[in-house]
Parts: sequence; structure tokens; C-alpha cells
Amino acid sequence: MIDKDVEEELNKQINEEMYSAYLYLSMSAYFENIGLKGFANWMYVQYQEEMGHAMKFYRYVQERGGKVRLYAIKEPPHEWKSPLDAFEQTLKHEKHITECINNLVDLAEKKKDRATFNLLQWYIDEQVEEEANDEEIIAQLKLIGDNGQGLLMLDRELGQRTYTPINQG
Ligand code: FEO
Repeated sequence: MIDKDVEEELNKQINEEMYSAYLYLSMSAYFENIGLKGFANWMYVQYQEEMGHAMKFYRYVQERGGKVRLYAIKEPPHEWKSPLDAFEQTLKHEKHITECINNLVDLAEKKKDRATFNLLQWYIDEQVEEEANDEEIIAQLKLIGDNGQGLLMLDRELGQRTYTPINQG
């Protein structure tokens, strides 16, 4: 049986991941509306990944004999000043998620919940990868500046991203 405090914090994290999915789906719509279909694709894949993160926690809570609670998902923004602004907001959001995961690790340690601690290692690695991806795209966008051709080249590259379903455990 899972510790009640751990269960509650995992349920809050399901909500954080669902919000992340919402945020990136909203960004995907924004990019599509401004004619950047590759960026829209990249964000749509990110939306799918976040749903995978949420569902991995969902399955875990159920498997540990806990109760999943689905809290209300807040409304994400729907407009950004530029592609760079959207990616800077993405990185800022991912840093917040990294902090949430770190807090969960601290709680799992405090409660001596080794199974949860173990699960969270996967999320720690995932956060390193996500922040690095965002930083790389931000750096490219800064180099591109106002160069429309550069932006279209990056759009083509981001259009190549495909979703690989994650192992739900
Ligand atoms: Fe679920 Fe983007 O971290």
C-alpha cells in the first residue's frame, strides 16, 4: 500500500503533466496558426510525451494500490510573442517540472519509499533530456534572429520529430 502523502503528491504530479500536455497542445495550435507546421509537429509530439508522463504516474499509483485523483487542469496561454518566446516559456516550465520531480524524490527518500524513488529516476533522466532539447532550440532561434529562411529550415527539421510511446511500466 502506498503512503498517503506520496499518493497525494503523485496525483498532483499527474495534474502537472496533464497541464504540460495542455500547454504544448496550445503551443502546437499557435505554431500551426502562424504557418510553422514543423514547430507545430514538434509541440504536438511534446503533447503526446506529456500525456505519456501523466499516464506512467497514473499506472504506477494504480499498481501500488493507491487511488488516482484527476484534478482540474488550468487553462494554458494561447498566444506567444514569437517562436523564441514560446520556447523560452517551455524551458521555464520544464525547470518548474524538474523542481516538482526533485521535491518528489525528496519525499520518497523521507518516506523510505524505494519503489517511488526508483520510478522517479526515469523522470530525472527525462527532464535532463527535455531541458537540453529546449536549450538547443532556443540557441538556434537566437542565431536565426530575423532570418526567415533560417526559420523555415529549422521548421523543416522540427517537422521530422516523431513520437515513440513510452513504457508505462
Ligand atoms: Fe513531463 Fe516535460 O516533463
